[in-house]
Amino acid sequence: MLKLTSLDLKKDKVETLAVPVCEDRTIYTDSALVDVVKKAKRLKEFSAKKDQVVTLYDPAGMKVKRIILVGLGKYKKVDAEILRSMAGNTVKNCIKNEFENLWFALPHEKKFNLDMQSTLEAMQEGAYLGNHVFNKYKGDKKKKGLKRINFIAEPAMVKKFSRLSSRIITICRSTTLARDWISTPSNEKTPEKLARSMVSTARKVGLKIKELKEGQLKQQKFGAMLSVSAGSQSKPSLLILEHKPKGAKKTIALVGKGVTFDSGGLNIKTGGSMSDMKSDMSGAAAVGATMVALAGLKPKLNVIGAIPLVENMPSGKATRPGDIVRSYAGKTIEIGNTDAEGRLILIDAMTYVVKTYKPQTMIDLATLTGACVVALGEKIAAVFSNDDKLAASLVASGEKTHERCWHMPLPEDYKELLKSEFADMNNISSTRWGGAITAALFLSEFVGDTKWAHIDIAGPAYSKKEGAYCGPGGSGFGVRLLCDFIAGM
Ligand code: BES
Ligand code: ZN
Ligand code: ZN
Repeated sequence: MLKLTSLDLKKDKVETLAVPVCEDRTIYTDSALVDVVKKAKRLKEFSAKKDQVVTLYDPAGMKVKRIILVGLGKYKKVDAEILRSMAGNTVKNCIKNEFENLWFALPHEKKFNLDMQSTLEAMQEGAYLGNHVFNKYKGDKKKKGLKRINFIAEPAMVKKFSRLSSRIITICRSTTLARDWISTPSNEKTPEKLARSMVSTARKVGLKIKELKEGQLKQQKFGAMLSVSAGSQSKPSLLILEHKPKGAKKTIALVGKGVTFDSGGLNIKTGGSMSDMKSDMSGAAAVGATMVALAGLKPKLNVIGAIPLVENMPSGKATRPGDIVRSYAGKTIEIGNTDAEGRLILIDAMTYVVKTYKPQTMIDLATLTGACVVALGEKIAAVFSNDDKLAASLVASGEKTHERCWHMPLPEDYKELLKSEFADMNNISSTRWGGAITAALFLSEFVGDTKWAHIDIAGPAYSKKEGAYCGPGGSGFGVRLLCDFIAGM
């Protein structure tokens, strides 16, 4: 779908060519492009301000049918995210017009603010991700992705960047895989169904797979996790995907919250707050899709992806507020609120991972708290960690990929808020303040000495609104972040 190719604009036929343009600087050397940009800038409606768009037809000196000039704004202000958004918006614009193919002109290396690698990376990401459409349940599939998006580069560049380009494709394909899982409605992705979909995808790319089904979870006393699935007609499962290259010494574990629907349980959610709870498995989707990407990227370290899958429903068999359950780790937990279920499945999965695989580093991703969205809004995730260096490198990966993360505190003294009168701990805090922090502190009790980070993605995992390179629905937040982080390990 995405291709880096060389092309002679004066000779080769192109139907639709997109040309990013800066307000205050020429960023091309190709004379035909330089001319057409000059011509466009003479128009009253186009000065290449950010997000300005103008289309010209049959430009002189080229065999191009239409040329879409897209404003990038001021040269000095152009960064990777501006390019990513520009590419995404341009592709979306072409989808709306039902075009099939698109060519992008790339700014000339020596004339641009950013180096070629970052430019290409950002533009290809934006284009690939912007081209993703979730139309599986639509009868009329009018809105569908472009067949081909080409990036025009000199032959030497095509050679130099072809590996980078295939890396980008692998990561973005996984991001859209995560998006599809998240956007799928809960009736179509019960824990059993989602496990099946993840297993079959993982098998195709050659990951090692282990699945603990309900019987084994009961036998091995995953009491916290089982208490969440108790009310559901669907059976829980713990999926473990492994990337295990020969000779690797280090092991990193990823754990993703997989609540395929969060009704709240007997502490049932009210209308509005329940409506998007099909997305409560976004952590699981990010971990599963990252594992699929890693099978292609082949980093030289062991990566374990642990995915606890449950549905949180009320029923005659559901766990009650006030119930006390015994976690896999052996600690007893009083259920203060059945809607604080994510932490219950995570602690059993994390305890199992630490005990079985002894990873040096463990990262969990979860749509864990509404409080996190109150704190950081819908576009930024929270990072909590018992290791400042680990948190800092996640924040750095977040800056690079624009999957932004903010480092939050884990204050020891807040732990007393999780005390229970009758059990070892309560699953909710005794106050309503700092809910993202107390949730993270709850998890921290189950990681032992492992270097660990928790990423609360409740804000950015899902959006009702369309973005520049994301449709309404699941965002796939975490896949690009984790791939970048793991590449740097
Ligand atoms: N899945 C929710 C958190 C959530 C909220 C995700 C909004 C995405 C958007 C989680 O299971 C939950 O219900 N948390 C409760 C915890 C409370 C009962 C301590 C919350 O945040 O209200
Ligand atoms: Zn909940
Ligand atoms: Zn939840």
